Amino acid sequence: MIIAIDGPLGVGKSSVAKEVAKRLGFTYIDTGAMYRALALKTLKENIDINDKKKLLNLLENIDIQLDYTDGVLKVFLDGKDVSNEIRMEEVSKRASEVASIKEVRDFMVNLQRKYGNKYKNIVIEGRDTGTVIFPNADLKIFLTAPLEVRIERRYKQLLEKGFKVDYDEFVKNFKEREHRDNTRKINPLRPAEDSIIIDSGNMTFEEVVEEITHLSKKVLS
Ligand code: DC
Repeated sequence: MIIAIDGPLGVGKSSVAKEVAKRLGFTYIDTGAMYRALALKTLKENIDINDKKKLLNLLENIDIQLDYTDGVLKVFLDGKDVSNEIRMEEVSKRASEVASIKEVRDFMVNLQRKYGNKYKNIVIEGRDTGTVIFPNADLKIFLTAPLEVRIERRYKQLLEKGFKVDYDEFVKNFKEREHRDNTRKINPLRPAEDSIIIDSGNMTFEEVVEEITHLSKKVLS
């Protein structure tokens, strides 16, 4: 069974998807983490992402692995655990930039499909999971919330993770990324036609998780 969870920046998709996967005993796949791992590599190796040749070469040699055990996701880049590093603001910005490049998306969609097909039951989370990666998913959820709510959620999350962030700078970056993700030419954010839209603006985390778990169990039975 495939459960696809999409939605805009900062809506809490990752936390929700991770918890739903845990409750159902499914494997959790965070597609954004894969873009982030690639972004981190371009930063570490000082790659100009507009240089297609260098970028393609980097894609050919990259090794991205996810490990989801006991409700905890670990992300490995070329064998090294980068789970925390990929959440830095600098990486978020670069991830949004690389995600608008066609060659990168083709590579990622391929990798994500292969990854998903390895497991029997998955919760896969990210922008194009229900529209492009697995258009035949058994359940598609589009999680949304007003912009101000999403900004607050993401800011709180960063503080909880111990990152020091300047609020104004963070809001500026957030809006820039939102704009780029929503207006890019290839696969801009949009709900799949057959997705269930959940507006989580006035819902608690537990309520959202409950709702999706309940919907999943209905599809399963
Ligand atoms: O969900 P996230 O913030 O970890 O994603 C990082 C970036 O990657 C974000 O700018 C959107 C992009 N992304 C994407 O374009 N397609 C996906 N399936 C997942 C993420």
